[in-house]
Amino acid sequence: ADHPITAKAHTNIALVKYWGKLNDQLIIPQNDSLSITLDKFYTQTAVQFLPELAADDVIFDGQVLSDDASLRVRTFLNHVRELAGFDYHARVITKNFVPTSAGLASSASGFAALAGAASRAAGLALNQRDLSRLARRGSGSATRSIFGGFVAWQQGHDDATSFAYPIDERPAWDIAVVVLVLTVKQKKVSSRVGMRLAVETSPFYSAWVTASQADFKTVKTAIQNQDFEALGHTSEQNAMRMHALTLSSDPNFTYFNADSIKAMQLVKDLRLQGIVCYFTMDAGPNVKIICQGADAKQIAQHFQAVFGKDQVLITRPGAGISISD
Ligand code: DP6
Repeated sequence: ADHPITAKAHTNIALVKYWGKLNDQLIIPQNDSLSITLDKFYTQTAVQFLPELAADDVIFDGQVLSDDASLRVRTFLNHVRELAGFDYHARVITKNFVPTSAGLASSASGFAALAGAASRAAGLALNQRDLSRLARRGSGSATRSIFGGFVAWQQGHDDATSFAYPIDERPAWDIAVVVLVLTVKQKKVSSRVGMRLAVETSPFYSAWVTASQADFKTVKTAIQNQDFEALGHTSEQNAMRMHALTLSSDPNFTYFNADSIKAMQLVKDLRLQGIVCYFTMDAGPNVKIICQGADAKQIAQHFQAVFGKDQVLITRPGAGISISD
C-alpha cells in the first residue's frame, strides 16, 4: 500500500489458560484455551513498508524502541516479509489504549493489531483464521484477540491446525469483567519464561494439561447453556491450577502479591454474601473478577473502597480486530 494501514485489536482475558508450548518456535500450545475479548483495552498499530528504510522503525507509545526492545516485533515482521516475498523494512507506530494510567500493555492486543496491519500493508489478504495463525507467531494469547466475545484457541498440532475461532462473538448474555489494577509495575517473570519453566520442571505439568482440556469442554458448554456459575467456577479453578504451576516450578515463583491474595479473599466473601462472582489472574498480580452485568457496579464500588477509585474498571465483551483499507 502507498499509505500506512492501521489495525485495532482488543486484549482478552483467558477463562481457560494457555500455559506451556509444545513447539516454542511456532507457538503451538499444550492445551486448548478460551477467552473473553474485552472492550476497554486495545492496541492501535499503523504499518507501512517503505523501500527507503534501512531498518525497521518501531515506535511504541511515542518512544522509538531500541534494537533489544523491538526484537520480537522485528522477528515477526521477518515472518510477514517471508510470506509476502519481499524485503522492505517497515515503519510501525503502536499505541496502547487503557482507561487509566495503568499501563496494562498486552502482547495479545499488540501482536493481533500488528498481524492485522502488517499483513494488509504487505498485500497479504488473510482470512480471519489465517490472521489468527499469523498473530500466534507473535504471542500465543494474540491468536484469540482476532475475534470478539467468547473465543477458543484450538491447540492443533502444527502451524496449519493451531488457530482461534469465535464461540459467541456478540454474547446476548450480560457478562462483565471487573479489572483490579493492583500494580502497574512490569512483571518479573515473563509468561514466555514462566511457562517454559513449568513445562520443564513442574511435576504437576501433565495434570495441568489433563485438567485444562476438561475445563475447556466445561466452559464451552457453560457458554452454550448460559450457565454462569459453571463458567465462573471452572474459570477460577483453572486459573488457580495455572498458578499452582508457578509454585511447583524449580525455581519456584509466584505472580501473586499481598493485594492479589486480599482481593481473591474478598471475592470469596462476596460469594458468601450471595453475590455470584469469580476471580482469575494472569502472569501478573492484577485480579480480574468475572460477574454478571447487573452486579458489576456494586462489585466495582466494593473494590474501589479497598484499593482506590482509579484502580477498578468495569469491562464488557469487546469486538474483534478491525483493519483500515
Ligand atoms: C497467563 O501469550 O503472553 O495470559 O506466547 O510466550 O507470548 P507467549 O505468551 P503469552 O501468554 C499468556 C499467558 C496467560 C494465559 C492466556 O492468556 O491464555
